[in-house]
Amino acid sequence: MKTITKQLSLSAAIALALSVPAFAADTTPSFTVLALDKAPQAADVGSLATQLTSVQADVVTVLDVERAVGAIDPLQTLADQLGFAYRFVQAEVDAQGTAQGQVILSRVPVQAESGPDQIGRGYLRLADDRHVVALYAQAGADATALPALLQSSRLGAPAVLLASQAVRADGFAATAVDGVASNGFAEGRASTLDLRDGAGRKLQARLLTLPYAQGATPPQPWMDTTLGADERTRLLLGEMTQDEKFQMLRSYFGLGKDGGPLPEGAVGSAGFVPGVARLGIPAQQSADAGVGVTNPGGIRKGDFATAMPSGPSTASSWNPLIAYVGGATMGREAWQQRFNILLGGSVNLQRDPRNGRNFEYAGEDPLLGGVIVGESIRGIQSQHVISTMKHYALNDMETRRNFHSVQIGDQAMHESDLLAFEIAIELGKPGSAMCSYNKINGIYGCEHPYLMNQVLKQEWKFPGFVMSDWGGVHSGSKAALAGLDQQSAGEVFDATTFFDQPLRLAVAGGTVPQARLDDMVSRILRTMFLHGNFDNPPQHQPIDVEAGYAAAQRTVEEGSVLLRNEGNLLPLADSVKRIVIIGGHADKGVIGGGGSSMVGITAKGTNAVPGVMPTTWPGPVIFHPSSPLEALRAERPDAQITYVDGRNPAAAARAAAQADVALVFATQWSAESVDLPDMQLPDQQDALISAVAKANPKTVVVLETNGPVRTPWLAQVPALLQAWYPGIRGGEGIAALLTGKVNPSGRLPVTWVVDESQLPRPHVPGLGFNPKQPAVDIFDFDIEGANVGYKWAAAKGLVPTFAFGHGLSYSSFAYENLQVSVEGQRLVASVDVRNTGARAGADVAQLYLKLPQGHTTPIRLVGFDKVSLQPGEQRRIRIEAEPKTLADFDPTAREWKIAAGDYQLQLGRNAAEPLQVVDVKLQDTMVR
Ligand code: BGC
Repeated sequence: MKTITKQLSLSAAIALALSVPAFAADTTPSFTVLALDKAPQAADVGSLATQLTSVQADVVTVLDVERAVGAIDPLQTLADQLGFAYRFVQAEVDAQGTAQGQVILSRVPVQAESGPDQIGRGYLRLADDRHVVALYAQAGADATALPALLQSSRLGAPAVLLASQAVRADGFAATAVDGVASNGFAEGRASTLDLRDGAGRKLQARLLTLPYAQGATPPQPWMDTTLGADERTRLLLGEMTQDEKFQMLRSYFGLGKDGGPLPEGAVGSAGFVPGVARLGIPAQQSADAGVGVTNPGGIRKGDFATAMPSGPSTASSWNPLIAYVGGATMGREAWQQRFNILLGGSVNLQRDPRNGRNFEYAGEDPLLGGVIVGESIRGIQSQHVISTMKHYALNDMETRRNFHSVQIGDQAMHESDLLAFEIAIELGKPGSAMCSYNKINGIYGCEHPYLMNQVLKQEWKFPGFVMSDWGGVHSGSKAALAGLDQQSAGEVFDATTFFDQPLRLAVAGGTVPQARLDDMVSRILRTMFLHGNFDNPPQHQPIDVEAGYAAAQRTVEEGSVLLRNEGNLLPLADSVKRIVIIGGHADKGVIGGGGSSMVGITAKGTNAVPGVMPTTWPGPVIFHPSSPLEALRAERPDAQITYVDGRNPAAAARAAAQADVALVFATQWSAESVDLPDMQLPDQQDALISAVAKANPKTVVVLETNGPVRTPWLAQVPALLQAWYPGIRGGEGIAALLTGKVNPSGRLPVTWVVDESQLPRPHVPGLGFNPKQPAVDIFDFDIEGANVGYKWAAAKGLVPTFAFGHGLSYSSFAYENLQVSVEGQRLVASVDVRNTGARAGADVAQLYLKLPQGHTTPIRLVGFDKVSLQPGEQRRIRIEAEPKTLADFDPTAREWKIAAGDYQLQLGRNAAEPLQVVDVKLQDTMVR
């Protein structure tokens, strides 16, 4: 690879220094940068492209570019014509949405950032997959400033300084060429180029060519990107002082303490660990979380993000690609908002529809949840952002979450919640994990040696680091020895910052070995190296709003579940001309969940319905500005569509009676730190639905809920769509599904129980806000053990309202010729799937294993495949079973074992109705 540097003519006589990875010495010998002194006009682009092609620069830079909202930047067009990558760096956005920043065009895609570094010197830093190039800017750079400048380099690589005079300093064998001083290059050549604009006028441009010096060695060898993360960590750790090590082990609350100022260097978010400038260690900036990048209280002025649909929506897609793209969207937006850690990747199992945080998770099944969250983690980490998988483990209820203990046997936890984590780790390889608030069998999650040391780190070989939940640490040495690597925001949320003074004393006194301290630090550094925190640091720039919308909308479209559609009331027929939309603030937006994960600020502004109680933590109740009413009007301009707020059921019924179809939107708000009191829709919405359905038998209910609710009106309502919390494109997605523009393909990731009586714990005292009874201290998960959701229903012979996996389409599908082959732990099913309907659509073929007597679990999902088919199209699909779902966990041998016996494989469209079955004999097999 060829890398180059070039002078940037900064308005205020700023000289720029550039450092190139010495490690590039084995490749093409020079690096060239062309600096244009101003941005071209659209009319200039053609002629400039022709001239620049002959120059063959590696990078073209333009400073102080303005980009108006929605306008096409001529530099983007220039990049397209040159075949160069385009980046817009360090954009400040004003109230009108005009962005100002620096533009980098490059031969290969580069990450670029710019801004003052830790000691206030401006820099422009470019990196591709292997090389790092940083241009350090220093007003009036001179010989005395040079050593400090080089010291401040976060790269420690050979550097080029564009100065007003020749410079020389210790350790820097500078070569001065036309005001260029370099180290690590054989020489620097600078020249002025005569370019012409579209009208033939002269354009200022300077070209700098830098051939690499032979054998240049970086003063900071851990910055050598050709080395692996382990080696880089080893090299760096060897240079760190004890203080610098301890600095890595605690984060600060990134929003400041008690409303005070932010910690110095924090951008404003949940967590912040300062970097170590001396060694080029970047700061750790971590943001929540699983449904998009949050901006609590708008602390980061001008920042906004895509509010993605909730976790169960993504899980309902049963489509790993949807999860990956959603993750990549959140990761990208995190990085663009200066974060290198996203506290997302949440895979606690839904054991109870009343858990207030189900909207952050991915349903009740370890395989589906593990795959969906694993893919989301993979997406996040594709963007040089570390994903934090959480909340480890069994934080499946919110009530008194900092105090309660869950009781569960070893085998049962492995076959349920832990299996979800294990699958998510195998697929997603998250860089970090967050231990949970609750106790597990009497021991706090963040001081649980069995869960952190033994299971996570030893048995699963998790190489990353464990950070605590905010307020989850109760000890120093005990927690560190149990496997906790970093305490989160302890100065605000814990009794003390255990990982500061108490841990220092414990290490000094030998209670915690130095080797453990080094392990803690190494795990953090290695993860940072591995995920690009050093080589591809975040850069502040506007998010790609349209790309975010596309990802969000596709998730709603694939993740909303059509639960019922009697008489094919949906999609809305063309003959339906009078539609009334009732309730749910559907004229304004769609509801979202509360707590730390809430994405309150999007490109469309903030809350569409402010003032709904509670307005303080874990509120406010958010309605994302995405109006189903407006979206439906846009889809059906021929229809007369009115809105009634639904507060008066009689008035709503009167309006419904006048309409061809009534659409009732019902909402249920749910939030972190509090569970729902029960499964009932709040605010008399059941009565509203019944009244409307009575007045108009063509009533469709659209639910925006945390999860399953009681549906006492179901028999009266021919059509029901579950939209979960659908995010910033909820309105548009729901409208597309109701009109048939999109064919529903979502399937339930949870069992829709009739009511609380079908749950393992029908009555749980103390749930909800202001409960009448005190809350429990122990959640007995041994009642159901690993039989979560549909497994519990099967074990108890319960018939839920809708089974796990259920979901309708506007088309129909048939299965034929199920064949199964078994070889050791490999079990592969194949089946013909045919679209027997008149519309293109997608089906989710689900493979279940029915287990013989003697196993604690009667049935398990072992594999699935989502397949899109044109009308009449048939395809043979292949589903490979996840071996661990065929096996039982042996807690003594610490192994997954398939037990010899007669099993049945069931292929179906949900967990309750097998459509094709094959009997199989399995042999005793150890899963590896
Ligand atoms: C939540 C975590 C979150 C953290 C930081 C805690 O209250 O449980 O999920 O990442 O706060 O905001």
